[in-house]
Amino acid sequence: MTFLYNLLVVLHFIGLASVVGGFLVQMRSAEKGVNPAMLHGALTQLVTGLLMVGLIEMGMVEETLDMAKISVKLAITLVITVLAFVGRKKPLPQTGLWGAIGGLAIVNIVIAVFWA
Ligand code: HEM
Repeated sequence: MTFLYNLLVVLHFIGLASVVGGFLVQMRSAEKGVNPAMLHGALTQLVTGLLMVGLIEMGMVEETLDMAKISVKLAITLVITVLAFVGRKKPLPQTGLWGAIGGLAIVNIVIAVFWA
């Protein structure tokens, strides 16, 4: 199970790279918006994060969780995911949606690293 958990951690980092990469790559674009990398990255974060929590809660890996931290990250990720779906149906530019998703993803990284 440790292998599966570590695999999920790797996918969690790839999801992170996808959301933030999809955000950063448009930094100088006049037509900013939600791209597939941001949407799929957000979904990856949601699914891998929940699966990791599931494995820990079922006692299959020896990790401890701060549920307050996880709850805040989950809430932020749900907002990111909803915003990414909203952006799919809107014409460009979507500078507000783009900025909100990128900013919230970076907030989640800060929470993941600094919330002890
Ligand atoms: C945009 C959304 C997210 C970002 C950017 C993100 C970022 C990160 C980062 C950078 C780590 C590594 C932390 C470290 O090892 O010090 C991490 C770990 C983890 N994340 Fe996320 N995460 C996101 C969403 C979620 C969600 C929605 C969940 C679960 C509901 C989740 C659950 C976890 C768990 C269980 C770990 C490993 C244990 C821990 O370090 O707390 N993450 N995440």
